[in-house]
Amino acid sequence: SPLPPPGPTQLLLLARRTDLRRISLDTPDFTDIILPTDDIRHAIAIDYDPVDGHIYWTDDDVRAIRRSYLDGSDAQFIVTSQVNHPDGIAVDWIARNLYWTDTGTDRIEVTRLNGTMRKILISEDLDEPRAIVLDPVAGYMYWTDWGEVPKIERADLDGTERLVMVNTSLGWPNGLALDYTDRMIYWGDAKTDKIEVMCMDGSGRRILVEDKLPHIFGFTLLGDYVYWTDWQRRSIERVHKHTTEREFIIDQLPDLMGLKATYVHQTFGTNLCAEANGGCSHLCLYKPVGVQCACPIGLELIADLSTCIVPEAFLLFSRHTDIRRISLETNNNNVAIPLTGVKEASALDFDITDNRIYWTDITLKTISRAFMNGSALEHVVEFGLDYPEGMAVDWLGKNLYWADTGTNRIEVAKLDGQHRQVLVWKDLDSPRALALDPAEGFMYWTEWGGKPKIDRSAMDGTGRITLVPNVGRANGLTIDYAERRLYWTDLDTTLIESSNMLGLEREVIADDLPHPFGLTQYQDYIYWTDWSQRSIERANKTSGQNRTVIQGLCGAARPWKPIS
Ligand SMILES: *[C@@H]1O[C@H](CO)[C@@H](O)[C@H](O)[C@H]1NC(C)=O
Ligand SMILES: *[C@@H]1O[C@H](CO)[C@@H](O)[C@H](O)[C@H]1NC(C)=O
Ligand SMILES: *[C@@H]1O[C@H](CO)[C@@H](O)[C@H](O)[C@H]1NC(C)=O
Repeated sequence: SPLPPPGPTQLLLLARRTDLRRISLDTPDFTDIILPTDDIRHAIAIDYDPVDGHIYWTDDDVRAIRRSYLDGSDAQFIVTSQVNHPDGIAVDWIARNLYWTDTGTDRIEVTRLNGTMRKILISEDLDEPRAIVLDPVAGYMYWTDWGEVPKIERADLDGTERLVMVNTSLGWPNGLALDYTDRMIYWGDAKTDKIEVMCMDGSGRRILVEDKLPHIFGFTLLGDYVYWTDWQRRSIERVHKHTTEREFIIDQLPDLMGLKATYVHQTFGTNLCAEANGGCSHLCLYKPVGVQCACPIGLELIADLSTCIVPEAFLLFSRHTDIRRISLETNNNNVAIPLTGVKEASALDFDITDNRIYWTDITLKTISRAFMNGSALEHVVEFGLDYPEGMAVDWLGKNLYWADTGTNRIEVAKLDGQHRQVLVWKDLDSPRALALDPAEGFMYWTEWGGKPKIDRSAMDGTGRITLVPNVGRANGLTIDYAERRLYWTDLDTTLIESSNMLGLEREVIADDLPHPFGLTQYQDYIYWTDWSQRSIERANKTSGQNRTVIQGLCGAARPWKPIS
């Protein structure tokens, strides 16, 4: 076997604001050496992977997670989108995954170590998540939250089975460290000014240090020592976990942030994710009960519980500040598309050619788009919108059409918002839903004002005719392109109706719907949301038979769309 590589065996890695440093723990002189990694703007959290020798850190200024080798080589940006204030980072050295907390997006997320296959694990009930540490052998992650109710929580490595471990006598629990040998959890609190410890099962909480700790920030443990940085003392100190003997490692160095004490090459432990990625096609997340395969955003786990596929058909729907999707094939739970800043998404559409979703936001009064994975979010129309409730993508002409109930206009622009033009404005009374038939060159819309109706015109706004005059307030207008039929929900009659493309041969498909709202059609089914039932239901598109609730929804669902 090869000789062990030269150099130190134990290191303390330090994130300062604008540089990263290493301090050998093998000898007692504790000289700090700046790593030759350039362009560090505001490094916060730091971790290390002894298997590959990569050092990982978060940078609050460039809003990214980065890595490089200790000698500064192979410097990469690992995660750059949807990163706000990433304050905690942790390497799962067994499954080869990276976890982080973000106090800006209030999420805990995971990716492979190279930044691919990103998945949001926890996005609810996080206030100000900061430190995160992993116990991959046992299948747990632990994190701190310094929000309104400060706490230390635990979950399985897939984000499930959350448990509050501590929520009393905490202030700003900034630092967290696991002692894998003694099965203990240590934490440092910058408000109570204490270092405390308890058993990993939550029992036996006690204070380790409680004097001269003005502002703990970074926190780590290796062997018999707990190390921490202190903002006020501008120091790194350590304390022996049994004797509580304290010692300065560094004194009078400003801008000390995260800290990681580690072996350079040595690791320990294994689990089922170590072998062939646990049989998982994408993410292997280890839990106390065994392997949980998981998929990055946009993919779905199929019935073998190991393989992620791109779903061929899914529904998109909006719910308050979320845009969510449900696979129609794998019958999976619905998942949120990771978008920030959505206030009240209303109309939604999808452009399959470049995998982008488009939506109107009736609070922000904008039309926006982003990729399905949530990246590259941009507002394409920001001015002159009031209540844009109807919108559709013309996938042939690469145009965006919308109907505005407030301004009483139907407009068009290129998909990037350029070359905007008003198409219909005369005699338009509260236009609501909009559907396009680009192959035939027609657009269809419903109006709610005065005398509700369904109208049609050419896609340049000319040749307007009324197709369906005797109708209530119709919503969720959709086209079955294969069978050449129109479908709509009627809020007043509480029906779903259908007609041919000229508004004739009307048929009632479903009746007695409490508050039908969005409507769409896919293959043999129509799908609709109901506001008061808070559900997504489906039925056969011609007979209305076999009505089933496919998903209960918490909160109101607005229009949505199946994509195939
Ligand atoms: C990222 O890592 C995964 C898992 O190790 C690997 O399958 C994938 O090819 C890597 N992708 C890139 C772009 O390096
Ligand atoms: C603290 O945690 C316990 C146990 O989970 C819970 O019952 C209690 O409501 C929490 N207290 C606060 C203030 O959140
Ligand atoms: C998101 O998807 C787009 C288009 O499919 C792709 O170009 C981009 O690299 C993806 N971004 C991430 C972070 O996966």
